[in-house]
Amino acid sequence: METVLYTPPNWIEPLNWQSVFAKSRPIEVDVGCGKGGFLLWVAQTQPDQNFLGVDRLLLRLRKVDKKIRRFGLSNVRLIRIEASYLIAKLIPESSVSAYHIYFPDPWPKRRHHRRRLFSSAFVRNLRRTLQPSGAVNVTTDQEDYFREIGTLMQESGVFAAESPLTLPDEARTEFEREFLAAGMLVFRGRWRRAACV
Ligand SMILES: C[S@@+](CC[C@H](N)C(=O)[O-])C[C@H]1O[C@@H](n2cnc3c(N)ncnc32)[C@H](O)[C@@H]1O
Repeated sequence: METVLYTPPNWIEPLNWQSVFAKSRPIEVDVGCGKGGFLLWVAQTQPDQNFLGVDRLLLRLRKVDKKIRRFGLSNVRLIRIEASYLIAKLIPESSVSAYHIYFPDPWPKRRHHRRRLFSSAFVRNLRRTLQPSGAVNVTTDQEDYFREIGTLMQESGVFAAESPLTLPDEARTEFEREFLAAGMLVFRGRWRRAACV
């Protein structure tokens, strides 16, 4: 099996999903997929969906690429890019059925908060790219960041909070396993885009 790392023909025009994935299926995006623990699990257990794993670290993606090829998964692609740019500029409107954003970099120092992924512009782009009724799933170990995300989602006026996804142990990401093993709390959220806004 060839690499599943996808390089778009250019970095300014919206992706053509038909050239990214071999088969047309609903698309979910794992933002900051890291070592791919969740991505590999979900792609194996949900073969009727396509999954795009996004990360800015090429070395991590190369390792995930190897695992995907070893498992022979044809419903996953990886892209090395800054996630906020991808979602703002390259993901076509109303084309994603769910986002998974697990342990986005926390930037805990107040002076670094502006580097965090979530902002009102980011939430607007989640909304733009999600299909009506599409979902955003978030997990973080930072309580203040979790509250901030909840506020941004609520202020958007188009996302409603609902019960978080319940996933089996095998679906846990590498970061979640580490935090839970250290006895730390993790905060999970799920928001659904309104059907008609
Ligand atoms: C804290 S790790 C979490 C990885 C994985 N989701 C997990 O839970 O194990 C954050 C990951 O997101 C990636 N990342 C952080 N900010 C990013 C951004 N703006 N665009 C793309 N990738 C990003 C990092 O390279 C890293 O692999």
